[in-house]
Amino acid sequence: EKGGWSSFMAKEISEQPEAVSNTLLGRIHNDHVVLGELEGIDELLTAIDRIVILGCGTAAYSAMLGKYAIEKWARIPVEVELSHEFRYRDPVVDERTLVISISQSGETMDTLVAVQEAKAKGARTLSICNTQGATIPRESDAVIYTHAGPEVAVASTKAFIAQITALYLFGLHLARVRATLDDETIATSIVELQAIPDKIRWVLEQHGDITELANWMSDSRAVLFLGRHVGFPVALEGALKLKELAYIHAEGFAAGELKHGPIALIEPGQPVFVVVPSPRHPNSLHAKVVSNIQEIKARGAKVLVIAEEGDVAVLPYASEVFRIPLAGPLFEPLLAVIPLQIFAMELATAKGLDVDQPRNLAKSVTVE
Ligand code: M6R
Repeated sequence: EKGGWSSFMAKEISEQPEAVSNTLLGRIHNDHVVLGELEGIDELLTAIDRIVILGCGTAAYSAMLGKYAIEKWARIPVEVELSHEFRYRDPVVDERTLVISISQSGETMDTLVAVQEAKAKGARTLSICNTQGATIPRESDAVIYTHAGPEVAVASTKAFIAQITALYLFGLHLARVRATLDDETIATSIVELQAIPDKIRWVLEQHGDITELANWMSDSRAVLFLGRHVGFPVALEGALKLKELAYIHAEGFAAGELKHGPIALIEPGQPVFVVVPSPRHPNSLHAKVVSNIQEIKARGAKVLVIAEEGDVAVLPYASEVFRIPLAGPLFEPLLAVIPLQIFAMELATAKGLDVDQPRNLAKSVTVE
C-alpha cells in the first residue's frame, strides 16, 4: 500500500499536510480551540502548577517543542523528560502536576511505565497518541489523539508533525482556560496553525528532490545540526533521522552551546546543518544564529542552512539553502524539519539502505 511511493517513509513525509489538517479537524470553533476530550480534566487544568512532558526519541523532541509553546502561551512551568529517565529517579510529582505522555504507538514500554509511576504518585495524566485504543491512552486520565493515520516506517515523520500540532492545540486551550492569552493572540495562533498544511506543501514541492546533495554527501562520516530555541529540537530530530536511517554519526546541538565545546569538532569540510529563524520576527534570534554560522564557516565548515524565503543574510556562508515560507516563530519547526527528514531518507537511499526498516530498530519498542 505504498501507493506508488518508493517507501512508506516517502509516502508518510508527503502526508504531512493532512497529518496537520486532520489533527486540527473539528477542534477549532469560532477562533477558539475546543478539545472536548479534555472535559474530564478541564477543572484540573486551572489547579495544576506544573506540567511534565514525557516521551522517547522523536516524541521527546515534539515534547520539547510543546514546552516552548505551552510556557509561552499558558505561563506555566513545563519540564520535558525522557520517559526512561523519569521512571527510575523517584521524580517529584503530585496532584498539582499534569503529566503529558507522547507516543505515536501508544505502546512504548518506557513511556507506559513512566505514566504508571506518575499516576502512582498522584499526578493526573494526559496522553497524546496516534493509535486509537492503545495501552498508554487507556492508562491515562485523558487523551488527545493525533490523526496522522497509520505510520508504518520505523522513522517517525508525520506522527511528529501531528504531535506538535496537538501540543500546540493543547497549549492554546490551556491559555484560554487559565486566561493567560487574549482572544486576539489565540486567534492569530490558530490562523498560523491552519496555514501550516499549505506551507508544508510548498516545502515538499521545493525540496522533494535532493538526491544530488544526498549522493554527494553519502560518504560523510559525521554530520552536525545546530539550532536555537525551537530550532534546537529540530536539530536534534534531524540528527536522529540521519543516525537511524543512514547510520551516520550525527549530533544536534543548541547553537549557543557551540563555543562551550562542540566548536572543537569543526574542521575543514565538516558538514553542518543550521536551522535559521526568520529575521522578520520581533526579537528574532536570527543575528545570533548567523554569527554562529560565521564562526563555523571561518573554521572551514560546509554550511547547509534551512532559512526563511526572504533571508539573504545566510547566502554568503551557505553551500546549500533549503527555503521555508514565513511562519510565526513557534511554527517554524513544522516546516524546518521537513528538509531534514527528506535529506536523511535520500542519504539512506543513496547508500542503498532499507529506508523503512533500519537495522536494529523496531517500530514500537515494547520492552523496557
Ligand atoms: O511510538 P512512540 O512514539 O512512543 O515511539 C517513540 C520512539 O521510539 C520513536 O519516536 C523513535 O525514536 C523513532 N524511530 C524515531 O524516528
